[in-house]
Amino acid sequence: MVQKENARMNSLVEVRMAHQGDSLEGLTILPAFEAEDPAATAPEAWRASVEVARRRPGFRGAEKQRTETSAAGSVLVLHGLGPRMAFDDRKLAAWLARLLDELRLAEVEEALICLPDHPACRGAAAAERTLRRLALGRYSYDPFKSEREPAFPLRLAVRPPAGEEDSYRQALAVAPPLAAGVAFARDLANSPANLATPEWMEEQARTLARERGCGFEVLDAAELASRGMGGILSVGQGSAQPPRLVRLEWGHRGPVVALVGKGVTFDTGGISIKPAQNMEDMKFDKSGACTVLGVFHAVTALDLPVRLRGYLPLAENMPDGASYRPSDILRCYNGKTVEVVNTDAEGRLLLADALALAAEEKPDTIVEFSTLTGACVVALGFHGAGLFSPDDTLAAGLLAAAEASGERLWRLPLWPEFGEEMKGNHGDLKNSGGRWGGAATAAAFLAHFVGEHRSWAHVDIAGPAQEPGEGAKASGATGYGVPLAVHFLRALSS
Ligand code: BES
Ligand code: MN
Ligand code: ZN
Repeated sequence: MVQKENARMNSLVEVRMAHQGDSLEGLTILPAFEAEDPAATAPEAWRASVEVARRRPGFRGAEKQRTETSAAGSVLVLHGLGPRMAFDDRKLAAWLARLLDELRLAEVEEALICLPDHPACRGAAAAERTLRRLALGRYSYDPFKSEREPAFPLRLAVRPPAGEEDSYRQALAVAPPLAAGVAFARDLANSPANLATPEWMEEQARTLARERGCGFEVLDAAELASRGMGGILSVGQGSAQPPRLVRLEWGHRGPVVALVGKGVTFDTGGISIKPAQNMEDMKFDKSGACTVLGVFHAVTALDLPVRLRGYLPLAENMPDGASYRPSDILRCYNGKTVEVVNTDAEGRLLLADALALAAEEKPDTIVEFSTLTGACVVALGFHGAGLFSPDDTLAAGLLAAAEASGERLWRLPLWPEFGEEMKGNHGDLKNSGGRWGGAATAAAFLAHFVGEHRSWAHVDIAGPAQEPGEGAKASGATGYGVPLAVHFLRALSS
């Protein structure tokens, strides 16, 4: 089976700044707030066309309304944004998605997009978010489609709100490499489990490391055994695809940040098998590892002044005669024993080894991404990730980064009671608590493996790692966490 080599690069939309005097040629999209005159912020030369378009009966500038006018080879489309007061980053994202859909359906190859004069579009972070969303506007995962939609390359010119030219010009240096990192993470996470085995993930990481000049190491099953990494080994022992731990390293200056990502290439639940409904979505259980690789992709391109380390525990959780089973007691890298009560609580087991290794190497900060619990999806839906950290400064930094990147992140507690609930009967710990507070007990379990390290955070991305959807409106990987981590690392090093 062959993965289309450059699927990700082809899928990025080319984005540039509009030239000062860009005239009404080709297709121009101009947003209009409800009951406001869009001509007010448009260049003098466009006014007549804007007037014609906005006088169309029924057009008020309500959200999702559109009207257009054409003259001498140019088309001006007015897009309603609804009331100015109700507009925010979410509405902006929804509008950009609608607009990109419209351009795709109309097979447009070139357009000028004017951005609304609104706080949601102002400043460096807003500029980065907007340009990145546009760059990702044609992303699709289609290496296995026999009949691919014909590729209409899209080139966009963007006209920032007045006075924001510098923000947008600077963001042009960040958004495209960041978008490429997101697309890379999505391609990996979308890859099906028969292709994306632990070995294949290792190969993708190795290729990235070679291309970007990263240090690369891998611990195979024999080395995991000799180093006492019983968590990763146990989770992977029921699969025909042996588990492994990939370690990446990059950079010579700045703070040392360890990124850990859960890489379960498929999670059947193992002997504690999952129901059939939506089990196919468990190919996304490697999303944390994909996010870490996406961050390496972006950070190496941006050449940020940070020293990055990446830890990817990779395994497939399968039911088999050789599988680990409930009642098994295994020993993790830091020496703690864990009694297995549910083989579907596998993520925390392989993360235990990876976190203990990361902590042993004494970085300044550890941030770990994992599709860890259904309970976190129950709490926050697909809208945002759960953040757990004992370090208020680190938590504040990650929340600020999420705000800047436009991804939702919500802090949840690491109360000591949750840690108590994870104490084992015949082992030091057990791998599953009771029914309640499942996202927090999982986080409390992980806390047992970072030792004395305080600057540590767990991000449960079980919800936002995938776009919910069924049938025609298919579910897909989002690359959640790549923008957040890059914003965090930029702030850390500035
Ligand atoms: N990979 C799942 C968590 C998950 C669920 C991710 C739904 C995305 C969507 C994880 O390995 C798991 O199965 N967790 C169990 C833990 C339980 C057995 C303690 C869960 O959340 O049900
Ligand atoms: Mn599981
Ligand atoms: Zn899992």
